[in-house]
Amino acid sequence: MDCVACHDREGRIATARAPTAAGEAMHALVHEPSLATEALCARCHEFAFQTHTPRFPFGYGDELAQATVSEWRASPAHASGVGCVGCHMGVYGHRFPGAHDVDLVRGAIRAGARVDGADVVFEISAHDAGHAVPTGDPFRRLEVQLCDTADCRAPRTVSWIQRTLERTETSWRVASDARLGESARLVRVPRGTAVAWQLVYRYGDRRFEPVLPASSVGFVVAGGTLQESR
Ligand code: HEC
Ligand code: HEC
Ligand code: HEC
Repeated sequence: MDCVACHDREGRIATARAPTAAGEAMHALVHEPSLATEALCARCHEFAFQTHTPRFPFGYGDELAQATVSEWRASPAHASGVGCVGCHMGVYGHRFPGAHDVDLVRGAIRAGARVDGADVVFEISAHDAGHAVPTGDPFRRLEVQLCDTADCRAPRTVSWIQRTLERTETSWRVASDARLGESARLVRVPRGTAVAWQLVYRYGDRRFEPVLPASSVGFVVAGGTLQESR
């Protein structure tokens, strides 16, 4: 993303820290402490669904399509004073790691599976993410797979941890939201002949997955072979 998307203020450059004389000599600066707060992120990471009336310019409804800032306000991170910039820029600077940083996502999710009678019970939760996981785009989701082979090449069952959307007369609404927070989510699936499991993060609309390179489809967050419960 270009610098001006966040730093331009009508030709002047917004800075989080007090401008220095050396900086002012290069370009006009405007001191904006709120740059380093969620107020900046909210401009692009919290917005409502468009309405599908044919009018132009198009409008927005009331239901949030991306609600990362609201999710953060309700999170333990917010309660302990940790903000967007603290987690996403603190040690990373302007790299803004997110769901394309496999280690970050793996570090934020705990997942396990155990055999319980004829079923497999998955226990999955998110930690150290200041919002729901996955956050952001509604297509982002986690796929719980149960597999007949150890390599999980062809899962026998899949269940999703995601939001589901419903069309309304004029826009969209979130019909269900099963995304992860700190409390464990239990997913129970009949075992059948399964021997292994996988939790996969997927980025986009499933209709386009067959034509995308693997790295744009998603990645394996966790997995293993099924152990008989003792
Ligand atoms: C997605 C928004 C975003 C984009 C894009 C962005 N920045 Fe920043 N930048 C920030 C935020 C937020 C801070 C404050 C970080 C802090 O206080 O730790 C910052 C801080 C800075 C600072 C330190 C000065 C200050 O504000 O205290 C410089 C210099 C800077 N950015 C340069 C750039 C340059 C050059 C680019 C383009 C290559 C760029 N930024 C793109 C959000 C952005
Ligand atoms: C001008 C609009 C804009 C602003 C302001 C902005 N972002 Fe973003 N950001 C985007 C877009 C567009 C993407 C790419 C969308 C996607 O991948 O879901 C993105 C992606 C990200 C990602 C994921 C990177 C990845 O792996 O794809 C993170 C993390 C992120 N932004 C954090 C922040 C934080 C924290 C702030 C506030 C300091 C911020 N952004 C401000 C537009 C913005
Ligand atoms: C306690 C640390 C923490 C805080 C606070 C935090 N995040 Fe994140 N964020 C994460 C982790 C970990 C991930 C990776 C897991 C995921 O994708 O949900 C992530 C992922 C993201 C993504 C990527 C989702 C995608 O679709 O690629 C965006 C965008 C994002 N955060 C924006 C924000 C914004 C905006 C705020 C503040 C309102 C914020 N984050 C606060 C830790 C944090």
